[in-house]
Amino acid sequence: MSKYTLKVNGDAVLVDAQPDMPLLWVLRDKLKLTGTKFGCGIAQCGACTVHVDGVPMRSCVLPVSAVTGDVKTIEGLAGDGPLHPLQTAWMEHDVPQCGYCQAGQIMSAAALLENNSSPSDDDIDQAMAGNYCRCGTYVRIRAAIHTAAKYHDASKGDA
Ligand code: FES
Ligand code: FES
Repeated sequence: MSKYTLKVNGDAVLVDAQPDMPLLWVLRDKLKLTGTKFGCGIAQCGACTVHVDGVPMRSCVLPVSAVTGDVKTIEGLAGDGPLHPLQTAWMEHDVPQCGYCQAGQIMSAAALLENNSSPSDDDIDQAMAGNYCRCGTYVRIRAAIHTAAKYHDASKGDA
């Protein structure tokens, strides 16, 4: 076991873990942040997506010893606010079915909107291509991202 200090959702946390323990299991088992899901375990489905320094990463294949930046999970996405614009839009469009993939979907979408505040359908399809949904919610995901982009723009206008 080694000790690692991570910054997760703005808080510094100290964890004991084997160096090769995937960040996903550190989040879920050690920090009890269970919003991030295990799907495939081989970087193919996107269910485990979190941000490291704002970049969407597959936490199932990221060893804790290789984490060098600030980690953000679905639990921290809204920051101090009640909901992130994507979460509001997700509810408005009734996106989730079983819900299992949705945290990963939203984290990928959030990274997209950080870099592109008005994405086209193609931009969305490209950014979300690595996130699978067995329930087939892709059409509503795309619609919700467009709605969230409008909220995002509106909130910038208010600032
Ligand atoms: S669980 Fe990580 S990509 Fe599928
Ligand atoms: S909502 Fe069920 S897997 Fe996506």
